[in-house]
Amino acid sequence: MAVASSLVLLASACGGDEEAGGGATTGGALEGRGPITFATGKDTSGFLPAQVSAWNSQHPEEKVTVVELPESADGQRQQMVQASQNKQDSFSVLNLDVVWTAEFAANRWVEEIPRDSFPSLSAAIPATIKTAEYRGKLYAVPITSDGGMLYYRKDLLTKAGVQPPATWAEMATACQKVQALPEGKGMGCYAGQFEKYEGLTVNFSEAINGAGGVVVGEDGKPNVDTPEALAGLEFLVNAFKSGAIPKAAITYKEEEGRRAFQDGKLLFHRQWPYQYALASKTDGSSKVVGKFAVAPLPGLNGPGVSTLGGHNYAISAFAKNKASAADFIKFMASEERQSANLQASSQAPAWASLYDDTALQAKFPYLTPLKASIEKAQPRPAVVKYGDVTAAIQEAAYDALTEKKQPKQALTDLQTKLSSLITQ
Ligand code: GLC
Repeated sequence: MAVASSLVLLASACGGDEEAGGGATTGGALEGRGPITFATGKDTSGFLPAQVSAWNSQHPEEKVTVVELPESADGQRQQMVQASQNKQDSFSVLNLDVVWTAEFAANRWVEEIPRDSFPSLSAAIPATIKTAEYRGKLYAVPITSDGGMLYYRKDLLTKAGVQPPATWAEMATACQKVQALPEGKGMGCYAGQFEKYEGLTVNFSEAINGAGGVVVGEDGKPNVDTPEALAGLEFLVNAFKSGAIPKAAITYKEEEGRRAFQDGKLLFHRQWPYQYALASKTDGSSKVVGKFAVAPLPGLNGPGVSTLGGHNYAISAFAKNKASAADFIKFMASEERQSANLQASSQAPAWASLYDDTALQAKFPYLTPLKASIEKAQPRPAVVKYGDVTAAIQEAAYDALTEKKQPKQALTDLQTKLSSLITQ
């Protein structure tokens, strides 16, 4: 959408090439072969070792060592930024969250990707490629996309005679009906990710977009102090106040919420697709196997809007073995690896046609709502100073949810802060 393009201008105003870290030889050849490292967030899927050993067995001279970083996006970024600032070759391939491209590219911590030598790009969902670009150049290769969905207890909704909700009000009514059943007694109604980290930026943005508001407008300017944004934030604040969102959810990142849903403690859960495979595991770790389904996120007056998530693989400017790094990325971006990952981990592939594969659709019914979620999803601001922008959003959202600030005040203050961070 338009936010992205106007923010490109903004990113250039924020320093861009002038802040060069001196690492990347932009547009230069990707040379050097040998062992490499791959820095990535905690592998919650458990499938990464299989992917990496498929590569390693075919490339004994170019083995990949996985460096597992923290579970939280903010913790991952911190370590990758640190290694880059120190110009270390500790991470050859970086698994970058879609929101970090501008920062890593502007600082020249990652190499430019020569589009012609990466065939997966022509098969990728166009929005995923946009997340890997900075000032018209490509700095990473889309591997997974991500879209939020509403996981719900199909068994209990059916028992209560209610349809999956399209609006927040319908969700509240559905909760009351299910909680009146003996099976629903004491269950939490709804949760998402509300701990003070990147997931809160996602959930806050979705609440605001779901009420017709924006964090940053189409003109690239912050515009979060509006009645629409207030309605979105109030949905979350009031749900915490009424207990519809359990108090404990203020400490939830993706994994804490997933465990609550799998333990049968939540009727509705806003979550990424990766939860589908884990909540379907028949090894005793999930109490909701076969009892849940997914629907689009609800909103104020109709279906809601997801924030666009996902991950792109980039080559560190400080890597010795850049040719091996590039080949490993090509391998992981291939249709075969993307399909294997989808089937094992239910993560959203960047490879577009996998969503339309009827055999996969039959086996993984979440693929259709997931595709719709990604197609409608709103990107977060593509700015070099994204770390400061997201910290400001997290603080405003957290202060409102914990009742430290009135929602209106939190939005007014956020507007002021974002206006000073995002200048054109
Ligand atoms: C997921 C998304 C990522 C997002 C993060 C927030 O990993 O793919 O884009 O920033 O969740 O926790």
